[in-house]
Amino acid sequence: MNNFFRVKRLDSILAEERDSKDKLKRVLGAFDVVMLGIGAIIGAGIFATIGTAAAGDLARPGAGPSLIVSFVITGIACGFAALCYAEFASMVPISGSAYTYSYATLGEVVAWIIGWDLIIEYAVGNVAVAISWANYFKTFVAGFGIIIPDWISTDFRTAGKIPGLIDSAPHIFGIPIVFNILSMGIIAAITVILVIGIKESSRTNTIMVIIKLIVLSIFIFVGFHYVKPANWTPFAPNGWAGIQAGAAIVFFAYIGFDAVSTVAEEVKNPKRDLPIGIIGSLIICTIFYIIVAAVFTGIIPYSALVKTLSTSQAEPLTLAIQYAHIQTWGNFFVGIIAFGSVVAHTAVLLVFQMGQPRIFFSMSRDGLLPKSFSKVHPKFKTPYVTTILTGVVVGITSMFTSIDEMVDLTNIGTLFAFILVCIGILILRKKDPLRERSFKTPFVPVVPLLGIISCLYLMLGLPWITWIRFAGWLIIGLIIYILYGRNRSRLNPVNGF
Ligand code: ALA
Repeated sequence: MNNFFRVKRLDSILAEERDSKDKLKRVLGAFDVVMLGIGAIIGAGIFATIGTAAAGDLARPGAGPSLIVSFVITGIACGFAALCYAEFASMVPISGSAYTYSYATLGEVVAWIIGWDLIIEYAVGNVAVAISWANYFKTFVAGFGIIIPDWISTDFRTAGKIPGLIDSAPHIFGIPIVFNILSMGIIAAITVILVIGIKESSRTNTIMVIIKLIVLSIFIFVGFHYVKPANWTPFAPNGWAGIQAGAAIVFFAYIGFDAVSTVAEEVKNPKRDLPIGIIGSLIICTIFYIIVAAVFTGIIPYSALVKTLSTSQAEPLTLAIQYAHIQTWGNFFVGIIAFGSVVAHTAVLLVFQMGQPRIFFSMSRDGLLPKSFSKVHPKFKTPYVTTILTGVVVGITSMFTSIDEMVDLTNIGTLFAFILVCIGILILRKKDPLRERSFKTPFVPVVPLLGIISCLYLMLGLPWITWIRFAGWLIIGLIIYILYGRNRSRLNPVNGF
């Protein structure tokens, strides 16, 4: 049992990174890191899932205009977690993020579980974003008269819900051929950029972040003129239940500020720049989200939203524009939003595809995953083995899965990681109070405790089926650890370390 809870000393974690031959390149500054945070945060959440949060679906009530409150609540919960992440990232600037923090505090089995859990945040999250990307991309190019057939841009299960799609798809030996080649294609393109280099990836990200902030600002400024305060009444059509369910859904929109911690080994001054990146990106995005939610629910009344979203898989921001008959630049305005959304999604995909390989990289360095996973490309200095592996797995999965299942699973997995990071701060403050912390979480233990409670509260807003899937995923992870990681771990005395 002791094996399960063996803890890796922080000093050895830091020394291993320092002495490793396979080093990543330190080229990123504070600005790049904030941009990476915003790159990871603003995407499918604000451009797609807020529709469900506001209108509700078969399983949960909608928040209506109180979506604004949902965003505030989730923003505060993420704020607590971000403060804890910032302390850890400044103290342990290692690319494993929450996985590494847990290794130093809660022991090996918890660290493994969290590493396994982070696959849900990054890889599964990206499957959802890639599918959402494909939807928006289709809408965007349709504006230019390019019609992409449904059978190469939809997964099989979603296709089953679209009347006539399966029958009209090509058949081979009587089997209908339906898959999402678009989502696969974007993941492949991003994988190439990520293998080529961190600086190139970061520059591409910065350009995309600027575009998405401009597009959201355009939505706010133009949409503002069409807001009717009457639409904000009733403010909370489904009371607190709607607000809580909404908060659990929009949590997806906030995921990403923690992804910044996975580039810790590529930041020039991580002790200062990581806390700036984590907290700075979260603050900027929270402000944008609350304003967008206010404008969105001010343009389109709750009753219309429920009717429209239940009959079509519309993109919510575009829907609001069409509802208000905003004619400022004719269809051009809808095109701008669709374009901004495609770009925003692409940035999220980029940063998450960047985060996942770096966590595998750290786990491999600790012996919990095969050694080849910590190989660095001789020329590009990127973790190319895990980058390509992540690309292949996410790309192929996104061809065949549906978005709904993926979003809830991502939320529960990420909330679980946040809770463990908050617990980690409490433990390390007790166990290692004198260690240098260039950023300190304020009001410990209050802030970490509030982080734990608020994340748990959001988890309770998720459907039970998500809990079961999540438990299943963790059990599979535990079995792999017992059969593989426990014996291969560098902390296992048999391995001579
Ligand atoms: N926060 C990311 C998004 O909304 C996952 O796409």
